[in-house]
Amino acid sequence: MNDIKNVSVIGGGTMGNGIAHVFAMSGFEVTLVEAKQQFLDKALDAIEKNLDRMLSKQKISNDDKKATLQRIHSTLNTVEGVMKADLVVEAIPEQFDLKKKVFQEVDENAPKHTILASNTSSISITKLAAQTKRPDRFIGMHFFNPVPVMKLVEVINGLETSEETTQTVMGLAEKLGKVPVSADDSPGFVSNRVLMPMINEAIFCVYEGVAEPEDIDQVMKLGMAHPMGPLRLADFIGLDVCLDILNVLYDGFKDPKYRPCPLLVKMVDAGKLGDKTGEGFFKYD
Ligand code: NAI
Repeated sequence: MNDIKNVSVIGGGTMGNGIAHVFAMSGFEVTLVEAKQQFLDKALDAIEKNLDRMLSKQKISNDDKKATLQRIHSTLNTVEGVMKADLVVEAIPEQFDLKKKVFQEVDENAPKHTILASNTSSISITKLAAQTKRPDRFIGMHFFNPVPVMKLVEVINGLETSEETTQTVMGLAEKLGKVPVSADDSPGFVSNRVLMPMINEAIFCVYEGVAEPEDIDQVMKLGMAHPMGPLRLADFIGLDVCLDILNVLYDGFKDPKYRPCPLLVKMVDAGKLGDKTGEGFFKYD
């Protein structure tokens, strides 16, 4: 069970193409499963561009690039894509029903020993695991954006995740050159439970007119040694994503300290979502 060679990544968007990239670069055979050809092409293109960037910075050689690309196989067929997998990492959009459907299909078609992992940032691992017949071999493998750069993998244990599964996935993350940190399933895990209230509080400071966005970010950068201010980070993550995660915390704990700031709700309603729409707390070209 611990001998993982073939990894299937489902979803090749922002996170999935990065996850496929790091596994292939670390010597694993990767099968990238996408829903549509155009998204698959886009994912493979992104991986090649990111490898080229590493090549130009002399972090890898041309042979490394070639070998990495050769280890990435792709398909639009989930059943075919998971048939030989020892590990499946799901990175499709953050919608429970969508993930449930994919995990049920994967569970039926992947070998018995295969570990199923989700890159979800806020959906309960225990609840996703319960959609399958292998909750002991189900785990959260929460990577951070951009995946090839960010060192952390938050490894989330569902209620029934076995110790063997946790140890296998922790070891695997280390083989990718990452630093795994294990936590039990809980709303927002550790990362978003700590981060999102800070972002929300920064938004409350804007809402209440305490300070300008630039100044709030400056305080956190220069005073607290954060590389990015909370409002800049919120724009980068996406204000809609921040709102969704705050709602998960608010619903999960039923604690008013997680109440999303009305200004955040208003900005999402207005379609000002941050970098991806060109405007959030700051403007982007
Ligand atoms: P994305 O929207 O960039 O990519 C999702 C991809 O999944 C798309 O390319 C889509 O075509 C594909 N897809 C949809 N249904 C599919 C199916 N049935 N089979 C195969 N592919 C399918 O989303 P993103 O940002 O990569 O997020 C993916 C997951 O990672 C979400 O659960 C999100 O919460 C989580 N996450 C996102 C982070 C981020 O910074 N974007 C950070 C950490 C976790």
